[in-house]
Amino acid sequence: MNSSSAPVGPSDSPAAPTGTTPEGDGSHKLWGGRFAAGPHPLLDAVNRSITTDFRLWPHDVRGSQAWALALWQAGVLSREEHAAIDAGLERVGARIAAGAQPIETDEDIHTMIDRLLHEEAGTPASRLHTGRSRNDQVATATRLWTMHACTTLDAALRDLQQALLTQAETLTDAVLPAYTHLQRAQPVSGTHWLLSHFWPLDRDRTRLAAAATGTATLPLGSGAIAGSAFPVSRELLRETLGFVAISPNSIDATGDRDFVAETLFVCAMTAAHCSRIAEDMIVYGSSEFGFVKFGDRFSTGSSMMPQKRNPDVFELARGSGARVLGDLVSMLATIKGLPSGYSKDLQDDKRALFNAYDTLMLVLPAMAGAIAELRFDRARMRAAVTGAMMATDLADYLVRKGATFREAHGAVGRLVREAEQAEVELNELPMAQVRAAHALFGEDVMDALGIEASLAMRNVDGGTGPEAVARQVKLARGRL
Ligand code: ARG
Repeated sequence: MNSSSAPVGPSDSPAAPTGTTPEGDGSHKLWGGRFAAGPHPLLDAVNRSITTDFRLWPHDVRGSQAWALALWQAGVLSREEHAAIDAGLERVGARIAAGAQPIETDEDIHTMIDRLLHEEAGTPASRLHTGRSRNDQVATATRLWTMHACTTLDAALRDLQQALLTQAETLTDAVLPAYTHLQRAQPVSGTHWLLSHFWPLDRDRTRLAAAATGTATLPLGSGAIAGSAFPVSRELLRETLGFVAISPNSIDATGDRDFVAETLFVCAMTAAHCSRIAEDMIVYGSSEFGFVKFGDRFSTGSSMMPQKRNPDVFELARGSGARVLGDLVSMLATIKGLPSGYSKDLQDDKRALFNAYDTLMLVLPAMAGAIAELRFDRARMRAAVTGAMMATDLADYLVRKGATFREAHGAVGRLVREAEQAEVELNELPMAQVRAAHALFGEDVMDALGIEASLAMRNVDGGTGPEAVARQVKLARGRL
């Protein structure tokens, strides 16, 4: 058995020929015939991608099984050869699942699987790579991996949405300031505030679904660049592997990593949204705001200051947004400089893709957990809503009495200035002073200055009025 557990890392000594090869030269390579000398260890070190692409194995095994089927149907493989390869790949998958590790000469996961298949199936294994290249092979496996990853990410996003919605539903009676420029702007319901973070994630899920559909185009059959010279049915491959479409151009198909960039964009956008949620929680959780209290299981302490309770999960979520953005930028930068067809630069697509995915798969569940543990200080939230925040309501009051908004804005502005000078709240100004600002101010003006009155005026769809928020909650539930 050759499932030895040699360390997976660049070697500093000449590659030890440990595998078996159809050519019988001791090493197991998918290329090499035209070279008189073996590769320099420094080439091996820089070229070796198995530490990154190892996780493609289930998809590569599946892709190879589909390819074997297509070769059989095309008359390239006999029934027996196909059966040997198919069963062999099944055993290869089982061996890797059971812990088989790469050996030093395994350049990438495709090489490792090929090596193991030779051990399992013997000579017929040497026929599997007919009409296929690692260029269409890796594109296929990476797309299959990405399609699966989109499903997993979607579930994690949905869980985070659920955590936000569950908390939002407990806050129907809470009011807090909404901020623009991080300055107190207008009062809003607590539910409305938390759900403002629900909808960006919902758009991420829509984008993720679109990215998954864009990914579901089959490159297999494109060969290295010009298309396979054997009459394989790409329709059979598409059907077998669950792709939606078939790539129309083999040059494009082998060099196309749009699907990686698109998925990375969704990841970067999602990470940016997580970062904004985090930022709200960090700010609102500071002693100065005090709206939010972090739970025991998702906050950390200080090694020096015994009183500290730190929102590390949110800070790490905010920080990881930068790394995921870096993954997107590095992929786009890689793509833009390439000539048509496959270039080895593309090997790094997986480094970016896997890093973004792994980061989000840590961040999304941790955020969901931390949000579920949050407690809200309704008194602090309400106390932060000041009279001046109802200035717009006061202007709207005048408009309803017949003033133009411009005129009303000026009159209320004057009152705000006077209240500021007198160091009182807007609703503490004497009635005579209010009347002096505009003749249309009547006895009922103070009603317009109430927090609940301000909310109640805003039952427009998408507004913070209680009826509109109830409709919004229903919409949100429908998305889960
Ligand atoms: N490990 C390579 C990658 O990830 C596989 C494709 C290699 N193709 C080649 N022409 N050398 O892109």
